[in-house]
Amino acid sequence: MAPSAWIREQETEPSILDVTTRIALIPGDGVGPEVMAEAEPLIDWARSRGHRLETVRLSYGADHYLSTGETLPEEAYADLRDGFDAVIFGAVGDPRIPDGRHAEEILLRLRRGLELTVNFRPCQPLPGLSRQGLHLEVFRENTEGAYCLQGSTEPGRAVDLAVHTEVAVLRLLEVAFARAQARGCALTLAHKANVLKHGHGLWVRVFQSLQAAHPDVPARGMHADALLCALVQDPAPFGVIAADNYLGDLISDLTAAFAGGMGTAPSLSWAPHRPFRCAVLAEPVHGSAPDIAGKGLANPVGMILSTALLFRHLGWESEAETVERAVAAAMRDGARTRDLGGSLSTAGMGAAIRDRLSG
Ligand code: IPM
Ligand code: MG
Repeated sequence: MAPSAWIREQETEPSILDVTTRIALIPGDGVGPEVMAEAEPLIDWARSRGHRLETVRLSYGADHYLSTGETLPEEAYADLRDGFDAVIFGAVGDPRIPDGRHAEEILLRLRRGLELTVNFRPCQPLPGLSRQGLHLEVFRENTEGAYCLQGSTEPGRAVDLAVHTEVAVLRLLEVAFARAQARGCALTLAHKANVLKHGHGLWVRVFQSLQAAHPDVPARGMHADALLCALVQDPAPFGVIAADNYLGDLISDLTAAFAGGMGTAPSLSWAPHRPFRCAVLAEPVHGSAPDIAGKGLANPVGMILSTALLFRHLGWESEAETVERAVAAAMRDGARTRDLGGSLSTAGMGAAIRDRLSG
């Protein structure tokens, strides 16, 4: 390399290293703030290990909506999109807002607006839970399908449209194929193309085109109803499952049940094509669980493992592994919240995990 080029590289390196990762924290509703409180110390811990990062807490959610009428204001959304690198999201949903308008305008808006096409929902039972050795991963398209929120209600008739685009389907399936290839495992596409001929027909066509390009990946499509039956009977043969938004929502709750239930299931959504600075969002699979909110009953593991997935996505592999090992060690030592038959509170479980961060 020419010396001048080498010098330029030396000069630009520090500024690259100096970049601060900006993370927006949106605790949201119900148990969201409680589980977020157990993720935040992990961010401080990552900072103590030398990562330059800044967090900003945003209070959008049911309370904010009910007191101000605001869901996610346009300026706040634009600031998130252009001024942050990542979002950590707690949960959204509140019985005082039965039509879920704020959920739509906050969480679904972020997923769709930031083009977070890929939603990754892994299922690997933690130590002490049943179905040890299972390693299933759901890749859910996260921005369209039945979640396009187009439709109408008329007297005696209601319509929900599902819009699927080749661009988004291809983006999701390329990631799923690459992952199955890297893991050397089977890839299954969940669809109902026998009925949803247009939308799921497109999924099958795109899937088949990628199959031709990945002859080494054992890939097949399955009707989603038959897939659910096969999963319940024996999930072991499945490795990676790809699905549209609606089917992926359903399938990932089922796979969460294989690995201890909703409390432990993590997820990460990202935009593989990085259209905006903010291109990744971590959130547990569970919802806001208003019935147990504020009681210290929520399991923070799903949120903590989602934070580990975010660390990995940001390139902080050592921090991701350390957090995942700490969760496994706490479980091995018998630390359990009530949903798993234990007696620890949300904060107690978070502390048990943090106590094991070093080793
Ligand atoms: C999920 C949730 C959301 C969804 C709700 C809260 C809108 O169930 O993340 O799986 O349906 O995607
Ligand atoms: Mg769901």
